Amino acid sequence: MPAFSLDPENLAARRERAMQRALAREGPRLAADFSAGKPLDDDDLVTLFLSADVPTADLLEVARAKQAPGAPKLETFSPLYISNECDGECLMCGMRRINGELQRITASASATDEQLDILYRRGLRGVALLTGEYRRGPMRDEMLKRTTAAARSALERDFAHILINIGSLEAEEYEVFFGGIPPRSDAALLTMCTFQETYDPKVYERFMGSNRENPRSDFKRRLENFDRAADAGFRSANPGLLLGLNRDLAFELLALCAHVRHLLARDMRVYISLPRLRKASGTAYHAGVSDDDLTRVVSLLSVAFPEAKVVISTREAPEMQRLLVPVIGVLTAGSPGVAPYTEGGARFEIEESQFEVTDQRSIEVILAEHLAAGATIDGYEPAASSFANPA
Ligand code: SAH
Ligand code: TRP
Ligand code: SF4
Repeated sequence: MPAFSLDPENLAARRERAMQRALAREGPRLAADFSAGKPLDDDDLVTLFLSADVPTADLLEVARAKQAPGAPKLETFSPLYISNECDGECLMCGMRRINGELQRITASASATDEQLDILYRRGLRGVALLTGEYRRGPMRDEMLKRTTAAARSALERDFAHILINIGSLEAEEYEVFFGGIPPRSDAALLTMCTFQETYDPKVYERFMGSNRENPRSDFKRRLENFDRAADAGFRSANPGLLLGLNRDLAFELLALCAHVRHLLARDMRVYISLPRLRKASGTAYHAGVSDDDLTRVVSLLSVAFPEAKVVISTREAPEMQRLLVPVIGVLTAGSPGVAPYTEGGARFEIEESQFEVTDQRSIEVILAEHLAAGATIDGYEPAASSFANPA
């Protein structure tokens, strides 16, 4: 199968047509079809998204009604940042290379292993390993080695789901990665994560830059990363949008749907992340999208892709988590500081973090709230004590 590609002009034209249909009040009829379970194509979905005469509460209710009966079935994993060094220049991110205000930290192999032990003792069975992205050279090779070693440690410790969120890799680098972990690690799920952030190449360039030395600025290389990952042996992919970069959410939704369909056609499991922009060290604060628009996007994706899992993080406040939990697949809690975890908590200092996390309650408290409301949570096996008395 050829690698995923996009035609931005075609997408923009489709987005325009969807807007015309929404203005012509096709929304309520589509909403009725949506609710009745008639298959809608991506253009219909985006028309619904844009229809001011279709209330958000109605879309959320349809998504809720489509879930399997009973309490929400969630999965969780927590982030573990191995380093906040980065050669990327992404304007919205505290880790970007030229941010002199960030205190740079890289965890040693033993500190990383200790963090995995802590997360495991705290009941987590899913972990996302994160670093920056680096220019070609020794630093890039070293960070790939460290991430590979951390993945191997996580597999040895019996984590069931390991997510790799370190930028995009070349075919040779995937070989290094798979060469460094035990063969047949298929009892555990490995997921490659690269959020495109925006599918508009112009907006991408505005935030991620155009310096060719900086691999993160290469839109196409990032867009094709999951195809290389699949060729190398990954069976699970986590694309995403950084909500707040591009105001034209309808365009982003069309592109994301196309990407997800491509990954499903490649037989990959798909996790869809929808982080909203947050304040970050040394960066101008950019407002994200509204609660309402986030709710519309999540509801539509949840119905359009029942086989995929929408991921919401503790970037969202508790009220927003409660609202969306019935229609998402993953709630992920933790800190974007480097090796931040203690036995019961975490450091969240913005001076060493990628961005500011909204919900800084402990992972146990956050997950206990949803367990208490009846949800089941894969990837979490709380110790009896923390369940009874969350730290
Ligand atoms: N260096 C890797 C790891 C990314 S961290 C890479 O760039 O691929 C995971 C995600 O955090 C990013 O993909 C982006 O979507 C998100 N992020 C970056 N800056 C953010 C901010 N200020 N607020 C919220 N999320 C942010
Ligand atoms: N930024 C990564 C992501 O969204 C890592 C992450 C997962 C994260 N869950 C989090 C960061 C919770 C902060 C808080 O996938
Ligand atoms: Fe670096 Fe990733 Fe932040 Fe870009 S988003 S500056 S590549 S950590």
